[in-house]
Amino acid sequence: MELTYKKQNCTEITEDFIGKECTLAGWVSTVRDLGGIIFVEIRDRSGLFQVVADPKVNPEVYETFGKLRSEFVVQVKGIVSKRPDDTINDRLKTGTIEIYPNEIKILSTSKALPFVLEDETVSEDIRLKYRYLDLRSEKMLNNLKLRHKIVTSIRNYLNNLDFLEVETPILIKTTPEGARDYLVPSRVFDGKFFALPQSPQIFKQLLMVGGVEKYYQIAKCFRDEDLRSDRQPEFTQVDIEMSFVEQEDVLKMTEGLLKDAFKAAGVEIQTPFKRLTWKEAMEKYGSDKPDTRFGLELFDVTDIMAASTFDAFKNVINAGGTVRAIKIPGIAGYSRKDMDDVRNLAIKFGAKGLAWVTYLEDGSVKSPVFKFLNEEQINEIQTRAQAEKGDIVFFVADKPKVVFDVLGRFRLYFGEKLGLIDKNQHDLLWVVDFPLFEYSEEDDRFVSVHHPFTMPAFEDIDKLENDKGNVKSIAYDVVYNGNELGGGSIRIHDAEIQEKIFRALGLTEEDIQEKFEFLVNAFQYGTPPHGGLALGLDRLVALLTRSNSIRDVIAFPKNSQAKDLMTNAPGIASEEQLRELHIRLRNPIKPQV
Ligand code: AMO
Ligand code: AMP
Repeated sequence: MELTYKKQNCTEITEDFIGKECTLAGWVSTVRDLGGIIFVEIRDRSGLFQVVADPKVNPEVYETFGKLRSEFVVQVKGIVSKRPDDTINDRLKTGTIEIYPNEIKILSTSKALPFVLEDETVSEDIRLKYRYLDLRSEKMLNNLKLRHKIVTSIRNYLNNLDFLEVETPILIKTTPEGARDYLVPSRVFDGKFFALPQSPQIFKQLLMVGGVEKYYQIAKCFRDEDLRSDRQPEFTQVDIEMSFVEQEDVLKMTEGLLKDAFKAAGVEIQTPFKRLTWKEAMEKYGSDKPDTRFGLELFDVTDIMAASTFDAFKNVINAGGTVRAIKIPGIAGYSRKDMDDVRNLAIKFGAKGLAWVTYLEDGSVKSPVFKFLNEEQINEIQTRAQAEKGDIVFFVADKPKVVFDVLGRFRLYFGEKLGLIDKNQHDLLWVVDFPLFEYSEEDDRFVSVHHPFTMPAFEDIDKLENDKGNVKSIAYDVVYNGNELGGGSIRIHDAEIQEKIFRALGLTEEDIQEKFEFLVNAFQYGTPPHGGLALGLDRLVALLTRSNSIRDVIAFPKNSQAKDLMTNAPGIASEEQLRELHIRLRNPIKPQV
C-alpha cells in the first residue's frame, strides 16, 4: 500500500465530507472489538475520529485492525460515511460520521503505557517522568494551546505598538533581583563563573541606553529559590521596558496587553484596573497582593489597646508594634476545640498569640481580654468591627509585618472556608506606591524592596537620608485574584539621585563598581527616562487555565525539588569535565555500580 504522510486533521472532517475519501493519521486512542467488528478511535492534535473494520467489508484491513493496541501510530484511508442513528456518539465532535478504511498502515507500535492518559488520579511524579506521554492528554494539550494563543496575542499587541523583540544573554554576570543565582563555571577563566539571569533587568535598561526605546522579550529567567506551586527555578517572563514614559504609560500599556491576553482565553475584563496603595493593601487586606473578591477587611485597634490595661498588648505597642483585628461572621458557635485550632493556625502563621471577642447568638459577649478593657473600649471595638450576633473578632499584636501577614492569611483562610470567594470573578488591580526600602533584620540595614535602580517618589527624596522607612517608590505590581502576576518600576536616570540611593543603602564605591559597574558606567552616556515591568507568563496561563500549579502549563517543568524527573537532571559530571572546569568536589559522588 502506498500512502503519503499527507493527512486530514481528525476533527476537520465533517458531515460535508460524507462520500469523499479522506486520509487520517494519529494514535490509537481506544480499540473496541465487538466480536466481528472492530471500532478504533484515532487521536491527533485536533481530536478523535472513529474508524471501523468489518471482515465482510475488507478482510485485509480487518486483520491489521486486530493487531492494533493503544497508542500505536497508524494511517488510514477510506470514504467518510454517516453513522447509523443509534450509534451516534455525542462525546465526539465527529460523532455522527466514521470511516470504514480500505487501507491501513501501522506506522509505529507502542509498549503498554505506564499510566492511563486521562486518569486524573495518576501521581504527578509519574506524569513528569513520562512527560512526553502526559502531553498527549487533552488537558495538557489544551494548556499548551492556550499558552500559545496568549503569547501570540501578547506579541501582536506589542508589535502593533512598535515594540522591538530583542534577545538578551543567558550567560551573564549577575542580576539584582535578590534570589540565589544559578552559576555556570567558566572553562576558559579558572575559578570564574557566569550566572544565569534572574531576569533581563540590567540588559533591558542597557537597551534603553542603547536607544531601543520600546523593548519586549518572552524571556527565560532562572532563580534558585524555594519552590511553590507558583514558582519554578526556570520560568518565563513577558519582559518589557520603555523610554520616555511615566508610571501611567506603563500601567495603561499593561492593561491593554492583559485585556487582549485574557480575551485570547475567552475572558472579558474591564480597564482601567482599580488601584490600591501598598499601605491600603496592607492595612485592609494584610497583603501586597490582595484578593479583593471578598470583604473581611482588617481594622486598627492599636489606640484602644494602648489605653487598656492589657500589658501583653501594651508592651508590643510601646516597642513600635501594632494591634489589628478581623471580624469573621457566623462562627460564634465554634467549640473550644475549634478555637484551639484557630489559635494554632494563627501561631503557625507566625503570631505569638491570638485574642478574640465572641458575639454570641443570645446577645451576650465573651472575651478573654475584656478584663483588661472598660465598657467604652469594649463598645468601641464592637462599633469598629460592626459586629453582630454570631461574629467573632480576632486580634493580633506584633510588629506590623507579622500582624499583617498573620491576619492577611487568616482572611484568606476564612474567605475560602466560608465560601466567600466568587470563583467566577476576574479581579485585577494595581498595587502602587511600594516602599523603596525595607529594613533587613538579618543584615541590620535598609535594603531595596525591588532593586537599587527603582525611582523614589519625587516628594520623598528629602527623606532618603533620615527617614528611609517612609520613602515611597514609583513601583507597581499587578495582581489577579490575589496572585502577583507582574511588577515593575520607573527607573532612576539621574546620576545624582542614583548616588543618593547607593549611599542610603550603605553601598561603598567598591560595592557599586563590583556589582553594577557596567550599568553605572552606561548611565553616564545619556540615559533616557525609562521604566517597565515583567509579567509572569506561566502564572498568567496557569490562572487562566485554572491549573493548580504552574507546572501544568510548562511543557517540561522541574518538580518541587527542582529536579527534572524525565531526564534525571541535575546529573553527575565526569572527572574529566570537572577538571576542565577547574572544579574539585567537596563531597564527591561515588559512581553508581
Ligand atoms: P519580579 O521579580 O517581580 O520582577 O518578577 C516578575 C514576575 O515574574 C513572575 N515570577 C515567577 N514565576 C514563576 N516562578 C518564579 N520563580 C518566579 N519569580 C517571579 C511573577 C512576578 O510577578 N526585573 C523585574 C521586573 C521589572 O522591574 O521590570 C522582575 O523580574 O509573576
Ligand atoms: P495572656 O493574658 O497572656 O494569657 O493573654 C490573653 C490572651 O491574649 C490569650 O488569648 C493570648 O493568646 C492572647 N495574646 C497574647 N499575646 C498576644 C499577641 N501578641 N497577639 C494576639 N493575642 C495575644
